[in-house]
Amino acid sequence: ISVDVFDFVAFGGTGDLVRRKLLPALFQRDRDHQIEGPTRIIGVSRAEMTRAAYRDFARSAIIDHVDAEDRDQETLDRFLDRLDYARVDAAGEDGWSHLAQVLGEHPDRIRVYYLATSPDLFGGICRRLGDAGLVSPQSRVVVEKPVGKDLTSAQRVNDAVGAIFDEKRIFRIDHYLGKETVQNLMALRFANALFEPIWNSAHIDHVQITVAETLGVEGRGGYYDTAGALRDMVQNHILQLLCLVAMEPPAALDADSVRDEKLKVLKALRPIVDGAVATHTVRGQYDAGASALGPVAAYADEIQNSASQTETFVALKAEVNNWRWSGTPFYLRTGKRLAARCSEILVSFKAIPHSIFDAGAGTIARNELVIRLQPQEGIRLHLMIKDPGPGGMRLRRVPLDMTFAEAFGARNPDAYERLVLDVVRGNQTLFMRRDEVEAAWSWIDPILDGWRHAQDRPKLYRSGTWGPSASIALIERDGRTWHEDA
Ligand code: BG6
Repeated sequence: ISVDVFDFVAFGGTGDLVRRKLLPALFQRDRDHQIEGPTRIIGVSRAEMTRAAYRDFARSAIIDHVDAEDRDQETLDRFLDRLDYARVDAAGEDGWSHLAQVLGEHPDRIRVYYLATSPDLFGGICRRLGDAGLVSPQSRVVVEKPVGKDLTSAQRVNDAVGAIFDEKRIFRIDHYLGKETVQNLMALRFANALFEPIWNSAHIDHVQITVAETLGVEGRGGYYDTAGALRDMVQNHILQLLCLVAMEPPAALDADSVRDEKLKVLKALRPIVDGAVATHTVRGQYDAGASALGPVAAYADEIQNSASQTETFVALKAEVNNWRWSGTPFYLRTGKRLAARCSEILVSFKAIPHSIFDAGAGTIARNELVIRLQPQEGIRLHLMIKDPGPGGMRLRRVPLDMTFAEAFGARNPDAYERLVLDVVRGNQTLFMRRDEVEAAWSWIDPILDGWRHAQDRPKLYRSGTWGPSASIALIERDGRTWHEDA
């Protein structure tokens, strides 16, 4: 179903996110005829650029980031025709009246202001949009993560954006929530009767959430070195995944019902403070090593700062202090330059209470549910069966496997495709509410504090491995191991 006509204004219009994600996502939606009529896309940045030059920039973005079989000349021409450009100094006073001119008088048209810039600029951009008379009841703003770098700065950003846009019109994006498999997590939990009765600490031994990347910082060192993995991945993506696994069933799928439940989980996270920082967290930084494409440099050399204490890896033991989860730890880990690209959630069930089989039958492994977010998106349930054949009662662990690409064969749309259109529709279910973002920071801040005061630095790990050995020790201390069948 197509959405209403809209103007999409991308601040940071010549940046990496717009090039790699937003333009390709809008193109795909145009190709599927969800974007129709005189919808426009207006790139905004400080660079001096003509409309024709911006269209060239967009054309190359589409060619580089949309598969050849997914693009045709007709859609490309139609799409490029929607593009315009305005030179605006987001941090100063220049260019705002020009932007107003480009936007023209369309009081009823939906306007999406997408702030793909540094969070320091969010407040100023909103204020200047307001001053230039560019905010109508039909306008909405999208802010990229990270919202702030700790609780105080997040509150400041939220206040500044909230002074111009009310909460119903602020879309804090976390692209993990738009991923097809993350959505599927809700379907798995709430569209099946099978799991809910055993979805608690009486039956689940522990949960693991892994988001492993093989890439390094890829030229984003300027931003990344001020952030680190805890702020870049855990505060948002990983905690959101944890919320979806741990939340109570919401009464409905509307934005506030879902977000109310996620908020309760964030508030129930046991704070990791003082001595617990050393026992419940591990931080690492990648050293030189190998990737699939050959030898790679150490993080500190890549960003040319040998004194950097920024973590590119983090492992945590989190606990949700409520009736459902008391006693079931959630082990979280994420890192760059790891051995494989693999994001998954593992739910490990408790062992059977009593075995009726003799020792010759072999070990009875626990049932495990693996929700594979990327790549090879799918769901796998590990069960014990009898090994077929005449060899007597021997048991074997086998996966009940559903790989989505094999099962459905459809293209897996990028998260941004869904999220951008949800903004136009005004659907906030997959976006973070202010209180959620702030509750997540409240949990993260003491860990950052603990690290700041610690004597030790992040532990170096060789690129192409699974991170520092302390991460293995973190989980093995509890008699468990990280799941690795990547
Ligand atoms: C972004 C982080 O939010 O997510 C990046 O800033 C990270 O550092 C990226 O690489 C991972 O996203 P995806 O969709 O490739 O898993």
